[in-house]
Amino acid sequence: MCGIVGYIGERQAQPILLTSLGKLEYRGYDSCGIAVAAGNIKVHKDAGRVGELTKVIPQLGGTVGIGHTRWATHGEPSQVNAHPHLDCSGRIAVVHNGIINNFLLLKQQLIAEGHNFVSETDTEIIPHLIEKYYDGDLGKAVETALCDVEGSYAIIVLAAGESKLVVARKDSPLIIGLGDRENFIASDVPAILDYTNRVIYLEDGDVGVITLDSIKIRQEGVEVAREEHKILWSAEEAQKGGYEHFMLKEIHEQPKVIRNTIGEYVSAAEPVADLAIMADTNLEGMLILACGTSYHAALVGKYIVEDLVGILVRAELASEFNYYPQTLAGTGAIVITQSGETADTLKAMKRLKGVGCRVIAITNVVGSSASRIADHTVYTRAGPEISVAATKSFMAQLMALYWLALSYSRIDTRRLDSLTMGLRQLPSKVQQVLDNGDRIKECAKYLSRYENAFFTGRGISFPVALEGALKLKEISYIHAEGYAAGELKHGPFALLDKNTPVIAIVAQDNTYEAMLTNIKEVKARGSPVVALAEEGNETIRELADSVITVPPVDAIFSPVVNTVALQLLAYYTAKQRGCPIDFPRNLAKSVTVE
Ligand code: G6P
Repeated sequence: MCGIVGYIGERQAQPILLTSLGKLEYRGYDSCGIAVAAGNIKVHKDAGRVGELTKVIPQLGGTVGIGHTRWATHGEPSQVNAHPHLDCSGRIAVVHNGIINNFLLLKQQLIAEGHNFVSETDTEIIPHLIEKYYDGDLGKAVETALCDVEGSYAIIVLAAGESKLVVARKDSPLIIGLGDRENFIASDVPAILDYTNRVIYLEDGDVGVITLDSIKIRQEGVEVAREEHKILWSAEEAQKGGYEHFMLKEIHEQPKVIRNTIGEYVSAAEPVADLAIMADTNLEGMLILACGTSYHAALVGKYIVEDLVGILVRAELASEFNYYPQTLAGTGAIVITQSGETADTLKAMKRLKGVGCRVIAITNVVGSSASRIADHTVYTRAGPEISVAATKSFMAQLMALYWLALSYSRIDTRRLDSLTMGLRQLPSKVQQVLDNGDRIKECAKYLSRYENAFFTGRGISFPVALEGALKLKEISYIHAEGYAAGELKHGPFALLDKNTPVIAIVAQDNTYEAMLTNIKEVKARGSPVVALAEEGNETIRELADSVITVPPVDAIFSPVVNTVALQLLAYYTAKQRGCPIDFPRNLAKSVTVE
């Protein structure tokens, strides 16, 4: 999950490459570099962020080049491990996103053939393989080299004396942005939005030869046509728009995201997905799979679908599902992925398809790999999410799940009408939580002094606790664990003391009384309690040390208001601790490796 970019045209490549790389830093940001061809190949790369490189890089000159921003897998972040990587002659440069599984074997063979390696990366074998097969036709050399390679890749190849770039993809995303006598290549859309909104999505197995005015794509040696798409996001949507961080902007965009996502479905002429799988009364169950924050949406989805549709749902981590002996063959599955590119999620989708499951993808990215594998895609309308910590995309995923479940619900008309109305009121409810930012800031100040915290909830609030803890740990570096409130006494109680606050999510549902009991148990062990509860709940004020209130909603929608409050809590805590909120250490937004 690195970001790669390429440019070929009539303008100077360097500023375009650096600007585009800056837009891809959410994919990895421990080191970066560019290579430009101007007669010879000139490379400049180092550990650190694109902004730092931009300050020190000399003018490389040249109208064709490639760039890379890295999330280290093989070898620590360092100048020598940063991309681009070169062959022995220094005339072929490659940037790569993905993992070459058989690189050690290939490296040994290439060393035996006289090639010298300088880095610890898997990538470095690619320029050497291309060098081995290069006899004047760069496209052919890349195709031949890739026959030796096992693993995942999106690559861009630059060669001295060639007025072209060669690109290839397998299990890692790559797009071509179309310009007027210029073309752009990137891992993802935000990189090219400043220059064009016309794109081609490459398919797995594609090898493309790109000049400033032509694009030739081959698949297994045969030329293929790839459709052009128009991107509807604007460049402004991928800017901070006056907010200090992307994360804060994205949290504040949620009322709009809810409106857009629901609006899309309400106005759709056809159902958002052909969920015959849900309508099937003989259905034993269905699966919802995802990773990271999307997995927490999947867990909320389990409660929503079981409650409204009345079928059994298994929500699983895609990364673990891949090792389960059983798949629930023949059932339907929903896969949730913001990026549509998470390697573990895509692998799970392929496994499901392999045993005959019908798969619906809920994704935010049009044309993403998930959308191409799925039988049906439900798009969320969150717009580009740049901050590594997912916020608005989670919200849009919840909206898709609510709408799917309501569309196929087996509840009585009264409840259906009431929930449909409740759904439409969510933007204003979320706005009320956002307007309560100052109170949440105060709690964040308090929380920021601690190094450990628990988030607890029951029922539909359990996944909310998991998500609250994930947000806090990823951006503030406080060790936070989300726990089912009833489970604390089965072990974690041993960790409770005055230095371990517990954030208790109290929903006004059938878990309420049990949650009050759990809070009392925690207090009896000396831990401070911050409760998240509905406005007007005076009982909680007597029990907890501190209370954050949220507006009343039907309990099934409580994850919406509670999550927004926890997002703000994490944000302000991280800010108080001076953390790099949008780009937390060691993480990346799009995880295209297993
Ligand atoms: C990374 C991101 C998370 C995201 C997870 C799953 O870890 O940092 O924010 O939830 O990947 O990504 P997906 O694109 O599949 O939703």
